[in-house]
Amino acid sequence: MAWNGRHFLSLADLNCEDMIGLMKRATHFLDAGDRYEPDSPLTGKIIANLFMENSTRTRCSFAIATKRLGGDSIDLLGSTSSASKGETLVDTALNLEAMGVAGIVVRCSEESGPQEIAGQVGIPVINAGSGTTAHPTQALLDAVTLTRYFGKDDLSGEHIAIVGDIKHSRVAMSNIEGLTKLGAKVTVVGPEELMPNNITCESSSDFDSVLAEVSATMMLRVQFERDAKVGEDYRDKFGLTQERAQKFSGAILHPGPINRGLEIDENVANINSSPHNLILSQVTNGVATRMAILEHLIG
Ligand code: CP
Repeated sequence: MAWNGRHFLSLADLNCEDMIGLMKRATHFLDAGDRYEPDSPLTGKIIANLFMENSTRTRCSFAIATKRLGGDSIDLLGSTSSASKGETLVDTALNLEAMGVAGIVVRCSEESGPQEIAGQVGIPVINAGSGTTAHPTQALLDAVTLTRYFGKDDLSGEHIAIVGDIKHSRVAMSNIEGLTKLGAKVTVVGPEELMPNNITCESSSDFDSVLAEVSATMMLRVQFERDAKVGEDYRDKFGLTQERAQKFSGAILHPGPINRGLEIDENVANINSSPHNLILSQVTNGVATRMAILEHLIG
């Protein structure tokens, strides 16, 4: 792999070959499954999971990935840290480094938070979601999920829809970058009020006509906690309803958490609804993808 970055902050820092290198390593971990016998590259190392925003999938999968590589992790959550007394993100990170952690995984509301920490500490920093602009480990695990589904190394020739609350979605931003680098055509779909004006791919408000053309659709959560507002017709226009899903034979993804019955119907979200439902595969692949990143940066 050519990529020799010290941190994992944004997919802008990686090229297609770098991504494929990490994805192949993640695939190696997935194929080995429980038979994987780690050479424990993280033995004796402690990773700090600094999560200023809530998380289920990302935080737990980093903790599990660290353990599977022989290391340990500690969690520092915004609500119970001295950030609640006004301590800055960078000061918090500097204190963790002073305690001897080998790397910092950070989720924060500030878009440049991970970059600011990386500029001040001497240990690797991994962006676990910042502001509304970047969630690069999610995009990499989505790419692993899609390449495994399509049975190829990259995504050339594929057309992928990202649907819903694009405006508040760091998953969408990182996926537009990552999927495009891997050769896919990406179309974002959503109502005008949830569509940012700095989109670098095609956009549409006609879900049905896009769904007829794509080989995968990634449904996004409407982020009510970021003040997203949707009309009563949102599900009818932009939801992956049972009726739409029955006509669609491509892959179905959702990064979670899910608003069941809004962006995706209850039955369509259920994993046994279809072999094309990859929603929990994304979660499984997230552990292996984060193992590949931790091993590369810290192992
Ligand atoms: N997909 C994702 O980032 O989920 P969490 O917020 O639960 O980590």
